[in-house]
Amino acid sequence: MEKIYKYIEEHVTRQGEALDWVEKQTHIRTNHARMLSGKLQGELLRILVQISGARRILELGTFTGYSAICLASMLPEDGHLDTLELNDELEDLILEGFDRAGLSDIIELHIGDCKETLVRLRSEMGLGQGSKTAVADKMYDIVYIDANKREYCEYYDLVFDMIRPGGLILADNVLWDGKVCMDPLPQDKQTVGIASFNDMVSADPRVESVILPLRDGLNVIRKK
Ligand SMILES: C[S@@+](CC[C@H](N)C(=O)[O-])C[C@H]1O[C@@H](n2cnc3c(N)ncnc32)[C@H](O)[C@@H]1O
Repeated sequence: MEKIYKYIEEHVTRQGEALDWVEKQTHIRTNHARMLSGKLQGELLRILVQISGARRILELGTFTGYSAICLASMLPEDGHLDTLELNDELEDLILEGFDRAGLSDIIELHIGDCKETLVRLRSEMGLGQGSKTAVADKMYDIVYIDANKREYCEYYDLVFDMIRPGGLILADNVLWDGKVCMDPLPQDKQTVGIASFNDMVSADPRVESVILPLRDGLNVIRKK
């Protein structure tokens, strides 16, 4: 399998200098380089943004900014990406990467717990108490979920009405190293969180979805 992945990575469009820099700095300055989306998934994200014609994207879980750069690099000049990250120690590295990619003007980094940030963004969109319809030009075309695996169901509920009909929710790590199909299901909160999320999505009549067995699994969900 390793050989196949190496072959695929050698035949994916070459990532730019900014992504090379982010990847290298992630290895040097963090202990969690495996959290990066990487070349293969990064290129898929870029293509999904391009073919969907997305203008507004929301990302939960920035880490060092690799996937944010992939997503934003295909937005039009007047596009916008909001990316949410809890760990403020990553802020300088993230912002330097955005700058090197020439994307600082269209990416906005929000440091803090993403559920709290989502509540604020929802209210800015007119989705506070009482109001059920977001201001149309503030709705997102794509939401990429890649933060705390225990909270995927809550994220789904919070972002659902922030997305326009026909928009996409992309959720990463939904196979969780194969733990989601173990019998019995491991009872750690992350496995239970991801398994509940996949069950919730597949039973939701408001969406169509497919899990791609890419890396650790990407759930591609289209809001009807
Ligand atoms: C898998 S990494 C994201 C990887 C990134 N999307 C990429 O592909 O390069 C998950 C990130 O989510 C962040 N995170 C975890 N819980 C969070 C929360 N409650 N709010 C915001 N960010 C959170 C972590 O600090 C970590 O940086």
